[in-house]
Amino acid sequence: MTRRAVVIGAGHYLPERIVENAEFEATLDTSDEWIRSRSGIERRHFAAEGETTSQMATRAAQAALKSAGRTADDVDAIVLATSTADLTFPSAATMVQSQLGMTSGFAFDVQAVCAGFVYALANANALIASGQADRVLVIGAETFSRIMDWTDRSTCVLFGDGAGAVLLEAQDGTGSSDDRGILATDLNSDGRYRDLLYVDGGVATQNTGHLRMQGNQVFRHAVEKLAATAHTALDRAGVAADDVDWIVPHQANIRIIQGTAKKMGLPMDKVVVTVQDHGNTSAASIPLALSVGVERGQIKPGDLLVTEAIGGGLAWGAVVLRW
Ligand SMILES: CC(C)(COP(=O)(O)OP(=O)(O)OC[C@H]1O[C@@H](n2cnc3c(N)ncnc32)[C@H](O)[C@@H]1OP(=O)(O)O)[C@@H](O)C(=O)NCCC(=O)NCCS
Repeated sequence: MTRRAVVIGAGHYLPERIVENAEFEATLDTSDEWIRSRSGIERRHFAAEGETTSQMATRAAQAALKSAGRTADDVDAIVLATSTADLTFPSAATMVQSQLGMTSGFAFDVQAVCAGFVYALANANALIASGQADRVLVIGAETFSRIMDWTDRSTCVLFGDGAGAVLLEAQDGTGSSDDRGILATDLNSDGRYRDLLYVDGGVATQNTGHLRMQGNQVFRHAVEKLAATAHTALDRAGVAADDVDWIVPHQANIRIIQGTAKKMGLPMDKVVVTVQDHGNTSAASIPLALSVGVERGQIKPGDLLVTEAIGGGLAWGAVVLRW
């Protein structure tokens, strides 16, 4: 018998305010056509004034609990992936814990930027496999609108805010790739590339700072590293790329998504794509895509999924799971 971490619910939250590409034309030398053709992004959501990452995370967690038919009392742990926690500390995860009314269990943040949700899933899987927890809420939530330089057209048009969550539950499996749940994970980072994508503020500068990115350099690493990590995770799971029902990629740029699918030998009709409506929501993008994919009727129980992401660090990785 193998203890598996099985997804039993998914949910998401998007802030009310939707900003179409055309809105940027008023303040920047850019166009809807440029943003659409270079990134695939058409619109994104921005948090309201005063709306925080932990508040959005709580809304997504509540939706995931509802879809699983569970309550916060059933949760042993919260693993929250974010690079835009409300405060330097405590963790946004402990804020979610209190907002959900939980007075037991434990909660912590994972910071791996756009790869955060993949890292969080891998950590939650390890907590379940080791017997430390039976049910774990895994959340990705971000307010990247708070770290944008609104004068930098090469970054501020690409990102959005939002949150997504899944509830994992320990279930007995046979140990084969037919089991539901997380089948394999693969995590990587390489700090030599830290200057390609970073925020120029923090404790060292005593201000929050703004996102800085050498987009074309990140792009170059992305397709190659994403296809490689996906293949590693698929090999570890003992499945072939052809067995995959859905790639659920980090949603940064449609050209990266298309390039990675092509390198994996899979058609775009096996890819869940939400980048046009959400932009790049960093650690929130994969759980948002999972939840939207279920809502659209794309992802169904028993489907084989591979998720993959890359972001600042560089940090990247993949998770193979049967839904
Ligand atoms: C950012 C990105 C969309 C830019 O596309 P690109 O085709 O690589 O474009 P480049 O950065 O080479 O810039 C090309 C030109 O467009 C211009 N440009 C940049 N942003 C622009 C905008 N919003 N509107 C109009 N022109 C823009 C640049 O200034 C540059 O002009 P120049 O040739 O006169 O210098 C693309 O590099 C990308 O998506 N990279 C990966 C980013 C990413 O996914 N990061 C997150 C990983 S988690």
